[in-house]
Amino acid sequence: MLHNMQKTVLNKWNDLYPRSMKEFSESLLDWYDRNARTLPWRISPQDRAKGIRPDPYRVWLSEIMLQQTTIPHGMRYFLRFTELWSNVDALASASQEEVMHEWAGLGYYARARNLHACAKIVSEAGGFPQDAQSLMKLPGVGPYTAGAIAAIAFDEPKAAVDGNVERVLTRYYAVASPLPDIKSELKTKAQGLVPTSRPGDFAQALMDLGATVCKPREALCDDCPLSEACVARKDGNPLNYPVKGKKKDKPQRFGHVTLVHDGERLLVERRPENGLLAGMIGLPTSDWFTDRSDFEAAGKQYEHLRHVGRVAHVFTHFRLELEVYEDRRSEISANNQIPLKQTGNSGMPSVFEKARQKFVDSDLI
Ligand code: ADE
Repeated sequence: MLHNMQKTVLNKWNDLYPRSMKEFSESLLDWYDRNARTLPWRISPQDRAKGIRPDPYRVWLSEIMLQQTTIPHGMRYFLRFTELWSNVDALASASQEEVMHEWAGLGYYARARNLHACAKIVSEAGGFPQDAQSLMKLPGVGPYTAGAIAAIAFDEPKAAVDGNVERVLTRYYAVASPLPDIKSELKTKAQGLVPTSRPGDFAQALMDLGATVCKPREALCDDCPLSEACVARKDGNPLNYPVKGKKKDKPQRFGHVTLVHDGERLLVERRPENGLLAGMIGLPTSDWFTDRSDFEAAGKQYEHLRHVGRVAHVFTHFRLELEVYEDRRSEISANNQIPLKQTGNSGMPSVFEKARQKFVDSDLI
C-alpha cells in the first residue's frame, strides 16, 4: 500500500503540474526521435513514422529473452535464434531439445520451455493475439511482457513497467516509499502517462532512458528530457531513488558435482522434467543442501575422487557453492556424453558449465 502521505505527494504533484503528463510524453518522444538505440528487433522511430511495423515474433522473442538479462547478452541469443528460426512457425517446428540447447546460458529454463510452448500455440492460431489481455494468456507472458508486446508490436496504449521504468518514475516523482510497497501504484502511474499516439515508441523510449541516461548508479540529468520537472533532480539526489527496502539475503546451498570423463568425453545426464533446470542436460550432482552438516556427510561419497575446486552460482532464490570432483574412467557411455574440451555452447546450464570450465582451465588436465 502506498502511504497516505505518499499518495498526497503524487496527487499534489499532478495538481501542481496539470500539463505534466502531456509534457512528459512529448519531451520523452522528442528525445527518443534523436536518441533511440538501434536494436535488431526494433523499428526506428523514423521508419515507424513511415508506417513500417515491427515483426511481433521478433518483439515477443526479444522481450522473453530480455526478461532477466542484459541487452548485450540477450542480443547474441536473439541473433542466433532468429538465424535458426526466422519466424514463429519455424520455432514451433524445432525440437524442444534443440531449443533448450540454444537457450543454455540464458538461465531460467522454464522460460525456454514456455517459449517453445508459446510458439506452438501462436503458430497453431495463425499469429500472435494483438492485445495485452489476450497476450497474457500465453505461456511465459506476464503483465510486463504483455504490455511491452502490445505497445511495441500493436500500438496498444499500454505501459511496460520493468526495473528501468520503476527507477525513472521513482526519481521523477521522488517517491519516498521502498519499491516493493509501491509497485502497483507505480504501474497505475505509468499507465496514466502512456500517450494514445505512439505508445510503442513511448514504451521503448522509457526503456532507453532508464538504460542510457537515468542509470542505476549514474543519473546523467544534463542529457535527460525529463529533468526540468524531475523532483529528485530538483532536490539534487536522484541516486537516492528508488528507495530500497530491507534486503533479504538469498539462502546459501552447497553441493557436490562430478566430472566423469575419459580425457575426451564428459558424462552428462538429463535432469528431471520438473524442478530447477528441468529437462536440461547437466553433470551428475548430489542434492543441493541448505544444511552444512548434511552437505559434509554427503561429501564422504566423493572422498576417493580428485578435488578440482569450487564454483559458485547465483540462482533467483538461492546461492549455490559446488565442490567439483574428477572421476576419470577408461570409457564413457556413448549415449550421454559431450566433448570435455570445447569452445562455445556446451548445452549445459551455466552452473555446470562453470564446473567443466574450471577443470579445463586448471593444470589438473
Ligand atoms: N529491455 C526489455 N525490452 C526492451 C526493448 N524492447 N528495448 C530496449 N530495452 C529493452
